[in-house]
Order: sequence, then C-alpha cells, then structure tokens
Amino acid sequence: MQALKGATAVVTGAGRGLGAALAICLADAGCHLVLCGRNPQALGQVAASIEARSGRQPFCVTLNLADMASVAHAVEAINAKHPQIDILINNGAMWLEAAEQGYSAEAVSGVINAAVTGTFLFTQGLLPVLRRSPRPDILTIGSISGLPNAALQGVSVPFYAAKQAQRALAEGLSQQLAGTPVRSLCVHPPYLDDISPLEPAWEAAAMRQKGERGTNRDVVETVLFALSRPRHVSLSSIVIDSDEGGLFG
Ligand SMILES: NC(=O)c1ccc[n+]([C@@H]2O[C@H](COP(=O)([O-])OP(=O)(O)OC[C@H]3O[C@@H](n4cnc5c(N)ncnc54)[C@H](OP(=O)(O)O)[C@@H]3O)[C@@H](O)[C@H]2O)c1
Repeated sequence: MQALKGATAVVTGAGRGLGAALAICLADAGCHLVLCGRNPQALGQVAASIEARSGRQPFCVTLNLADMASVAHAVEAINAKHPQIDILINNGAMWLEAAEQGYSAEAVSGVINAAVTGTFLFTQGLLPVLRRSPRPDILTIGSISGLPNAALQGVSVPFYAAKQAQRALAEGLSQQLAGTPVRSLCVHPPYLDDISPLEPAWEAAAMRQKGERGTNRDVVETVLFALSRPRHVSLSSIVIDSDEGGLFG
C-alpha cells in the first residue's frame, strides 16, 4: 500500500490476536514495525514471521500497560531507537470476563490501568516523536462496548468502563490535537473470530456472509483504510457492526 510505505508503526498487544494481525499486515503494506507486548517470546515469533515476509526486522519492546514503570521503560526504549514514529496503534487492552462473584482489586485496576492510564501515558510519551512525522496517526482499537449507551451484552462492568474511557481518550486527543498534523482515529470492532494472516482462514474470511461473525481481517482492512486517507480528513470514529456479535447481537 503506497500511502503507508516506509512509515514506522508502533503496535501494542502485538504478540497475538488482532495486534499480531495488524503488525503483520502493516509490515506487508511497507511499514517498519515496533512490536510491544507483555510476552517477549510471542513478540519474537511475530517478528520472525514479519522478517520472513518483508525482509524487515521489527524492534521488539516489552510493555505491560498496567505497570507504569514498564510503560516508562518502553517509551524510553522507543524514543532512543526511533527519533520519528508515524503511526501508533493502541491495540493492547486487558479483557475481563463477566463474573457473578465479583472481581479482585488487581483485576479491576489491571483492566482500567492497561486501557486508560497506561495507554494514555504511553501515547503521551510517544507524542514528541510522533510530532516529528509528516503523517502522524494515533489509532485506538476501541470496541462496540465503548460506544455511547452501548448494551452491556454480558461483558464485565470494569471492561465496559475501560472501553468507554478509551473512546473518550481518543476523542479527547482528537480535540487536543486539532490544528496539528496529528490525527486521532478510533475503530470500534464487534466480537471477533481470532484469525491470522498466516492461516488459510484469512483468505476464507473475505467470503463471509451477513449473519456471520466479524474477524481480525475486517478490523485490519478498516485500519489500513483509515490510515491511508488523505491528511485533511480524519476517520475519527469507525464502528464495525455485524449481526452476530454486533451492536444488536
Ligand atoms: N476479540 C474481540 O472480540 C474484540 C472485540 C472488540 C474489541 N477488541 C479489542 O481489540 C484489541 C485486541 O484484542 P484481541 O482481539 O487481540 O483479544 P484479547 O484477547 O482481548 O487481547 C488483548 C491484547 O492486548 C494485550 N494486552 C492485554 N493486557 C495487556 C497489558 N497489560 N499490557 C500490554 N498488552 C496487554 C494482549 O497481549 P498479551 O496478553 O499477550 O500480553 C493481547 O495482545 C483489544 O483492545 C480488545 O479490547 C477485541
């Protein structure tokens, strides 16, 4: 993809799932990758796949978004290695299953801190190197759970609150950065089937029919579209809906 060729992209939660799929496809589109996540082995495997496909070696950074010392270390490491970042994908967020018996303080603070405090401080820490780019984008992966008046649909209240706050975070950044070259974009996926661009399921996903569940591929293609729009427009909030696992699912 010409619009993204040569850009440097940071992806959080890049060791598996949607984050890994985004990283692989951004590399396929010509980006240099910075892979961030809690599990260095998982990051190493994604990096090896990217290097095999693109010939470019990603920079891997251990990052626990729920741990502010880890956030500070990761920001420092990225700033030292990359004087300019073009794209930040805030994908990493802790999932918390709804539980009738309630939640531990650790689980609740982990979910809120990863999605909100850690994501905000990580973004703030990378803003100076983003500002050096001629095409800086911050793209947050929200959720349909984060939309105004979204139905709870069985997700835990702490996760719901964290995703609502992530939407506000992306919108707040949009307002704060109005009049600067930096765009803040937010994509809200429905429930997803976790598929990888390295698997045959990726090709098959393009043939899904209405009524079937969304996949990582739907989100990746939406993100690539949003990032490659001309600079004078911002697709600041994109909702991906599906009958199965969507807003009214
Ligand atoms: N899957 C869905 O149905 C769905 C639907 C709507 C929105 N989303 C959003 O899409 C994004 C990606 O999720 P997913 O689909 O890949 O499934 P997921 O199982 O929710 O994965 C969460 C991702 O975030 C990372 N993560 C979790 N806690 C973290 C922390 N404290 N610090 C750094 N990274 C952390 C995980 O990495 P490790 O655990 O490997 O460290 C993993 O890569 C999330 O923001 C999620 O909320 C997902």
